[in-house]
Amino acid sequence: MQHKIGYIGFGGMASGYHCGTALREDVPFTPVAAYDINPDSRARAVERGLEAYDNLDEFLASRTFDFVLVATPNQFHCPMVCRALEAGYDVMCEKPVAMTSAEVELMISTAEKCGRLFTVHHNRRWDRDFMIAKQSIENGDIGKPFMIENRVHSADGAGTMNGWRAFPDHGGGMLVDWGVHMLDQVLYLIQEPVKTVSATVRPLNSEEVDDYSKIIITFESGLVAQVEVTTYSPITLPKWIAYGDRGALIVPDFSGNNAKVRRIKKGRFTHGEALGYTETEVIRRPQRNYRIEEWEEFPLPHSEIPQDWASLYKNVGAALDGKEELIVKPAQVLRCFKVIEAAVKSSKEGVTVKF
Ligand SMILES: NC(=O)c1ccc[n+]([C@@H]2O[C@H](COP(=O)([O-])OP(=O)(O)OC[C@H]3O[C@@H](n4cnc5c(N)ncnc54)[C@H](O)[C@@H]3O)[C@@H](O)[C@H]2O)c1
Repeated sequence: MQHKIGYIGFGGMASGYHCGTALREDVPFTPVAAYDINPDSRARAVERGLEAYDNLDEFLASRTFDFVLVATPNQFHCPMVCRALEAGYDVMCEKPVAMTSAEVELMISTAEKCGRLFTVHHNRRWDRDFMIAKQSIENGDIGKPFMIENRVHSADGAGTMNGWRAFPDHGGGMLVDWGVHMLDQVLYLIQEPVKTVSATVRPLNSEEVDDYSKIIITFESGLVAQVEVTTYSPITLPKWIAYGDRGALIVPDFSGNNAKVRRIKKGRFTHGEALGYTETEVIRRPQRNYRIEEWEEFPLPHSEIPQDWASLYKNVGAALDGKEELIVKPAQVLRCFKVIEAAVKSSKEGVTVKF
């Protein structure tokens, strides 16, 4: 079934990516209306053939659409999502979902109370680099993983927070802007319970918000994940590295090109004796060493893994029609936000936060 979209906030993302995607023939959505407080954004909506509103009540009362996409600056996400849900619409919100986990909980409970679908635009679950890493890890290419690293690591300076993203009261900062995508990927990949979060979240060149963060998450099994976000790194590290008990994988950058696995082909334990000491004597203790003797290297599939963010829209459309389970689930979004809050607390207080 074709769903009709009303946009709350018709700035860069809504008027560009979201509207363009909904105009695709293979996407079961049609752009219909937009509410925005900025006359320029409303003019852009009219140019694209949408009905433009400067009044939220009138927009919500119009009933010319059945689905709302919220793409305002972050501090309006929660109130706008709740207003739309309460008005009887199914809603998708842009990331980061909210300003606090309490707001996320309110959005989820409002959706439940109103019996409406609520999801978040975590389009980067369909990034090629992520899908390559996820598929390889899930295939068992590296055995049981013990360390997974995911980075935004570039020297383009694009992470200098500007516009409303430079102000804390608008929900700005690199951690929630880019970091939330990387964390969402890692937490979607590793679905086991989080045990601890330890982080540095700090400004480098932005005045009021962070633009560098490194977050280390330990999971129940002992698996460790690291997310690092900076655009001030003249020496760049790979987008993904993962280590397992049978090998390691690398995905160098967002393109997914040249991704590969090195898998242990032959390894050997050697057994011997080592000297140990008590307070008064030298003793001999058995000791075991492991040596990797041979590995094999193979490329990871690339072109067979298509990157198409519209897959998210297709899933939401199918979920609205009762044909598929929603992929970006509210509970996952809440967990991600709680990790963000734990990271900020860890950094501020200089502690490891138990989850
Ligand atoms: N998923 C992604 O890849 C991705 C990429 C870019 C932006 N985003 C997210 O999309 C959202 C919007 O970002 P953007 O880059 O389009 O920002 P933007 O500044 O270009 O657009 C925001 C729009 O919201 C309007 N607005 C502001 N306050 C409003 C209010 N109270 N009521 C109605 N309209 C209001 C503004 O007039 C503007 O038109 C943000 O949450 C951002 O994090 C997501």
